[in-house]
Amino acid sequence: MGFDLKIRLRSYFDKSQPLLGAFKYIWTTYRSNEQTPGPGPSIQRRAFAKWFTDVAPHFIAFEETTSLPSLAAAAHGTVLELGPGAGNQLQRYNRDQITTIYGVEPNAAFREPLRAKIEQLHLDAIYVPVFCDVMDTAALERQGIVDGSIDCVTSFGVLCSVDRPEEVVARLWRLLRPGGELVVWEHGASEDWVTWGVQKVWNLLWPVALDGCRLDRKMEEILLTSAEWEVLDLRREGEKWSMMPRVSGVLRKVQRD
Ligand SMILES: C[S@@+](CC[C@H](N)C(=O)[O-])C[C@H]1O[C@@H](n2cnc3c(N)ncnc32)[C@H](O)[C@@H]1O
Repeated sequence: MGFDLKIRLRSYFDKSQPLLGAFKYIWTTYRSNEQTPGPGPSIQRRAFAKWFTDVAPHFIAFEETTSLPSLAAAAHGTVLELGPGAGNQLQRYNRDQITTIYGVEPNAAFREPLRAKIEQLHLDAIYVPVFCDVMDTAALERQGIVDGSIDCVTSFGVLCSVDRPEEVVARLWRLLRPGGELVVWEHGASEDWVTWGVQKVWNLLWPVALDGCRLDRKMEEILLTSAEWEVLDLRREGEKWSMMPRVSGVLRKVQRD
């Protein structure tokens, strides 16, 4: 490790800030729920939506320094955006090459921030929020989203959070038409064993505070073994001590008869 010790430690402990921030939102949401309890998403989900919406400008600014903007700008045709959350990526799409974007989001606490973002960007004519889990076939069918109906799926920071990621990737593959593309910018397990060990430790609390997000998923393996793809581009971004090394690129659906 030698000289990089300081920089490593900073990278490892930097994660305490978002973790504590997210826990604070859970506590505040829990307290306000005691006063005015109501139906709808769980306290954890409501807290996550509020925290994620409030810190959105920081995420958006960081993402500008990565490959994410150019990946989003390449989306085309009928697009399914997996887990849009507060709509942080909406300004990055190139509307001239898009027919419709279906934003499939299970957390209804994102309804208002997502609606506001669509309105602010005047995307009402092409952006359709669909509040359900991507595994909910019946809910997607009601929107006309069926196997083979999608030209392009975008997944930006979502496969870390879904239950059973292999099944979700296989589902996305089925929704794509033959030749359709899955565009990803995800974080996952580090290839550096020290960092990977630290990810395992942080992982004890991270998913509790951040709505199921896991730090240690083997993202390339999940993507490449769950369905049959032609790899157009798949790369890693980030230093070896990064707690969130990114896997990004474009996979094309291969369908053999
Ligand atoms: C870290 S947020 C990322 C939000 C957004 N993609 C972005 O780039 O800002 C992860 C999102 O994935 C959503 N998600 C989790 N499980 C999902 C599922 N099964 N289907 C669709 N979205 C899901 C969460 O509700 C959350 O909005």
